[in-house]
Amino acid sequence: MFQENCLKGQKGLITGGSSGIGLEIARVLIAHGAELTITGRDTSKLAHAKSELGDVLTVAGDVRQADDVAQTVDAHMARFGQVDFLINNAAGNFLCPIEAMSENAFRSVMEIVAHGTFLFSKAVFPHMKKRGYGRIINTGATYAWGQASYVAHSGAAKAAVLNLTRSMAVEWGHYGILVNMIAPGPIDQTEGMKRLMADPKKTDMLLNMMPVPRMGKGSEIGLAALFLIHPLSSYITGIALPVDGGMSLITPGLIPPGFGPKA
Ligand code: COA
Repeated sequence: MFQENCLKGQKGLITGGSSGIGLEIARVLIAHGAELTITGRDTSKLAHAKSELGDVLTVAGDVRQADDVAQTVDAHMARFGQVDFLINNAAGNFLCPIEAMSENAFRSVMEIVAHGTFLFSKAVFPHMKKRGYGRIINTGATYAWGQASYVAHSGAAKAAVLNLTRSMAVEWGHYGILVNMIAPGPIDQTEGMKRLMADPKKTDMLLNMMPVPRMGKGSEIGLAALFLIHPLSSYITGIALPVDGGMSLITPGLIPPGFGPKA
């Protein structure tokens, strides 16, 4: 853990903050003194998150809708008066071969992930620019760099997020706004893992191949986010940080990790 209250006075927004990785990030940031607005489409999930997290502002809305995004940022500003950080975490994903993927399926995921990140970043930007301070963390994926077979919609969207992260970092750095991406690996107990790694046998095989052979914890993503929004992390921008137990280093190779002779 970082020093208690190291985020005291920091006020920020987490999209998709009512469940999964978003909720875990919220827990970590609140434990270190941050004050939060969390968003999500499902009001019952938001109410449940609020009952766990305590004094957070919850605003229901869809990251794909510019009006919802504007209302959320307005509500945050009315309550807190400043936005120090934004965590673009809302995502949508499901396993589907390209040949079976409908246009609407592709559009839905692209719009949640890429469009949502664009809309929320643009909505907080004027407030951050005015104060000359801001941190934006985009949630990417390690497959943003390579291929994303069977989640091609998500791969295309996360590649867009990676590029958008770098473009925003370059355009907004001189306003004091730092923009970075976190690329989570397989994180336990998340909607994503339920959807993408439903087969325990295949999951075990994959985990055994990883340099750190286990699922990640949501709190480990939360601590990476905390590091990047910590006021002392003031010279890091435009990076994409894998928090994945080294999963992105696995290439089939001759002898995959975990399959070599024991010492
Ligand atoms: N396989 C194939 N197509 C699918 C699908 C699946 N498992 N799930 C959804 N779709 C298609 C739908 O059929 C629809 O296409 P169609 O109109 O051509 O039939 C399209 O995707 C949109 O689905 P819909 O449920 O109407 O959209 P939505 O906006 O309500 O939901 C999703 C968005 C599809 C991304 C949904 O999975 C979601 O809400 N996900 C959020 C949670 C999540 O994914 N978490 C994991 C993050 S890693």
